[in-house]
Amino acid sequence: MTNLQPALFDTMFNMRAMRRLKPDPVPADMVEQILRAGQAAPNGGNAQAWGFIVVEDPAIKKQIQTYYAKAYDELVGPHYASIIENMDEGPDRDKFERQVAATKHLTDHYHEAPLMIVACLNVGPNGANGGSGASIYPAVQNMLLAARGLGLGATLTSRHMIFGKDVDKILGLPSGIMSFAILPIGYAEGNFGPVGRGPLKDIVHKDQWGQGYF
Ligand SMILES: Cc1cc2nc3c(=O)[nH]c(=O)nc-3n(C[C@H](O)[C@H](O)[C@H](O)COP(=O)(O)O)c2cc1C
Repeated sequence: MTNLQPALFDTMFNMRAMRRLKPDPVPADMVEQILRAGQAAPNGGNAQAWGFIVVEDPAIKKQIQTYYAKAYDELVGPHYASIIENMDEGPDRDKFERQVAATKHLTDHYHEAPLMIVACLNVGPNGANGGSGASIYPAVQNMLLAARGLGLGATLTSRHMIFGKDVDKILGLPSGIMSFAILPIGYAEGNFGPVGRGPLKDIVHKDQWGQGYF
């Protein structure tokens, strides 16, 4: 490979979800840099139909967390519990249980992140369609990369969408605007680490599905 830029690739390969955050404030210039990175993302027709809400108000963060936790208690938590129940004991189950513990920690402490960035999109009067996310998630990924590049921890979360209408109301979103992701951001408690992904050969095909590329 030529022109390999280690900083970029290190950032991508060591950008696991950081679900344990310190409450220490994040400097405003870093927040601005993250937002600039988000705004630089590709988006359909360059319509830039997005909006980003920086949520720092403890009362608003707590109201959002209430719905985020409700979605965990009613749906996500029981789903994870049934997965664990059906897994054989061993390293895979241990790993999954660690991920669930981190997810539960973030759920309980969601509102304690010094800030959240909520990524919103103008989906118009007919609401979201299958392609809507394509014009907002690149911005979300850019912001995650920027946070990581600045030494900040973050997680892409979208569970609030289970109660999306309620959360969008808390955020004062006008009709036709919808939130797609909430990024709790702060200084990380743990260490940044490599993402865990399987071998490329299991997911890459040549010319047609099912034919090995590697
Ligand atoms: C669309 C989307 C929604 C997600 N929502 C949540 C969420 O609500 N809460 C959470 O803790 N993680 C969420 N994640 C993070 C994934 O769980 C995480 O990326 C995945 O487990 C891989 O872990 P890693 O990024 O640490 O390697 C979401 C990721 C994506 C792409």
